[in-house]
Amino acid sequence: MGHVIAVSGKGGVGKTTLCGLLIQYLCESGKCPVLAVDADANANLNEVLGVEPEITLGELREEIERAGVDSRYQIPSGMTKQAYLEMRLSDAIAEEDDYDLMVMGRTQGQGCYCFVNGLVQTQVQKLQSQYPYIVVDNEAGMEHISRGILPMMEVAILVSDCSRRGVQAAGRIAKLMK
Ligand SMILES: Nc1ncnc2c1ncn2[C@@H]1O[C@H](COP(=O)(O)OP(=O)(O)OP(=O)(O)O)[C@@H](O)[C@H]1O
Ligand SMILES: [Mg+2]
Repeated sequence: MGHVIAVSGKGGVGKTTLCGLLIQYLCESGKCPVLAVDADANANLNEVLGVEPEITLGELREEIERAGVDSRYQIPSGMTKQAYLEMRLSDAIAEEDDYDLMVMGRTQGQGCYCFVNGLVQTQVQKLQSQYPYIVVDNEAGMEHISRGILPMMEVAILVSDCSRRGVQAAGRIAKLMK
């Protein structure tokens, strides 16, 4: 089973930058393939890595929600939404030489994050045996931890700058994790 490493902390302290460096380090050390997971709705790990994902999990959810209502989105006849989702999930993984990237992305409307959070969780669980290391870039704050979307997390890296608020946020996250 792969090691799941989650990177958390206050906003703007360098979580995504650290994830990029960590992924580069793991790849250069031969600990690949690495699965990079951008679990921040305001996704930008792809920019740090220089990869463009075909579709995010959030966009995939929107596509499936709108199928049958909006003619631009079609599910092949005879296929259930669930079966179509399963088929399309592989498109949400951008494949590079040493690592792959899966992006949670945004969803529209309110109260929709439970679904994509659940998708991140089930996908990481499903893919854990295929990658020696999975690096998860979390959104700022404690939401992911309090929602418990990464029960399989093995290592947490709490990032802070030199500010009091940064250190306090890291302390709160550590407490919540315990
Ligand atoms: N060690 C560092 N020293 C100086 N600047 C840094 C350092 N790490 C990151 N930065 C810069 O700080 C800014 C924020 O970094 P980054 O996007 O990695 O933070 P983040 O914690 O992921 O932010 P967010 O909470 O918005 O996701 C970027 O401009 C980045 O280049
Ligand atoms: Mg970030």
